[in-house]
Amino acid sequence: MSSVRGEFSSRFGFIMAAAGSAVGLGNIWGFPTQTASNGGAAFVFVYLVLAFCLAYPALMAELVVGRHGQANAVTSLRKIAPKQPKFAFIVGFGGIICAGLILSFYAIVAGWMLSATLTPIAEITSLDATAGWLSTQSLGRDLIFTAVFIMLTISIISKGVENGIEKWSKRLMPALLGILALLIAYVLTQDGASQGLQAYLVPDFSQILNPDLLVSALGQAFFSLSLGTSVMIIYGSYISKQENLVSLGAYVTLIDVLIAFVAGLLIIPAMYVAQAQGVEIFSDNGTLLSEDTLVFQVLPALFNSMGDIGLVVAFAFFALMSIAALTSSISMLEAPVSYTVEKFGMDRLQATWVIGGLIAVVSFTIVFNFSSLFSFVIALTTQFGQPLLGMLCCIFVGWMWHRHSLLEEIKSGCGDVENGVFWKIWPWYIKFICPLAIALVFFNSL
Ligand code: PFF
Repeated sequence: MSSVRGEFSSRFGFIMAAAGSAVGLGNIWGFPTQTASNGGAAFVFVYLVLAFCLAYPALMAELVVGRHGQANAVTSLRKIAPKQPKFAFIVGFGGIICAGLILSFYAIVAGWMLSATLTPIAEITSLDATAGWLSTQSLGRDLIFTAVFIMLTISIISKGVENGIEKWSKRLMPALLGILALLIAYVLTQDGASQGLQAYLVPDFSQILNPDLLVSALGQAFFSLSLGTSVMIIYGSYISKQENLVSLGAYVTLIDVLIAFVAGLLIIPAMYVAQAQGVEIFSDNGTLLSEDTLVFQVLPALFNSMGDIGLVVAFAFFALMSIAALTSSISMLEAPVSYTVEKFGMDRLQATWVIGGLIAVVSFTIVFNFSSLFSFVIALTTQFGQPLLGMLCCIFVGWMWHRHSLLEEIKSGCGDVENGVFWKIWPWYIKFICPLAIALVFFNSL
């Protein structure tokens, strides 16, 4: 490490950590289910356009703020515009709260993934009662697995940037890719898979300007790249000044989009394979049965129909989901922890436990009041918080940051950037197009 503050030790380490934050349940569950609910390939097309044209520039805004400030989100934003401390606080602290709230519901879903990972093991070892308990939703099960997942997250974050976030992202991300590839290879050999591929890859262009589809695709792109949560500001602050930020951001976006796309190659054909085996996936009027049905009923039904190998496939699938969730949840916890450590001078271990404990309390409150709070917190953070805060961050960078200093920051580690298209377009783009486009899509959805 080259400074007292944590820093990623390598380019690969950063890419794995940031892509680890980006790649999560949003890619492997959210993207395929949204695609299936929104007319298949048309959604994929709109998503790709929005991810590269709006989410990537917004991601760059967050990374560049962090790398410039080399501090937590609030301090980094304040360094850019010392005369706008309140605006900086709203964007930075708002993002931190948003990250904490996302973690509080994400940990519940990740807890379901953990229990679903253990179910096939219980079945293989003939622990039938345990398998039954693991696979049936109950207050006790949800509380225990939410707590276990938060503890796993705490244990990684308490070790810091290089020995915690980077080390585990470098292990977990390749494991995730390997499991995903094996599962796809298996599903594509099954009956019904080609029908699924067709639904996924052949677009119905009449859907493309549907406002609901646009809003869902934008929300999905922001959620997937972890925007509007201060997470990318804080990860940006751990990047060395020698690194080429423009290409790092592009890699992270590419990996994120690619994994969402590839996850679609698994889930959508798997749905049609399940259908070919008699599992109901669409209701009578052609709409997809509810989204959690897809992962927790359709897929297990598919795994069951495979015989013994199905237990192994089920284990691999839910392990994949749990790993993806963990590399994302660590980034969500890092946002408030880094702020607390730097603002209050608290020891990292202590800060991690205090913040992790607070988030666990919010998670448990949601578990106890599931029907009223769960969807509310998801909507509040992902439909309102993330797009709005992402937009404010673009406005902050575009309008409050002295242009010369902004350009200097981009140039650092990227000497030839002045000849590229990014240099010519991005500063202007982030100032006008991004905030306007986000606002348009957002207000259109209200
Ligand atoms: N990007 C993650 C996913 O696609 O599952 C979710 C996420 C991570 C959202 C980190 C927000 C965040 F701060």
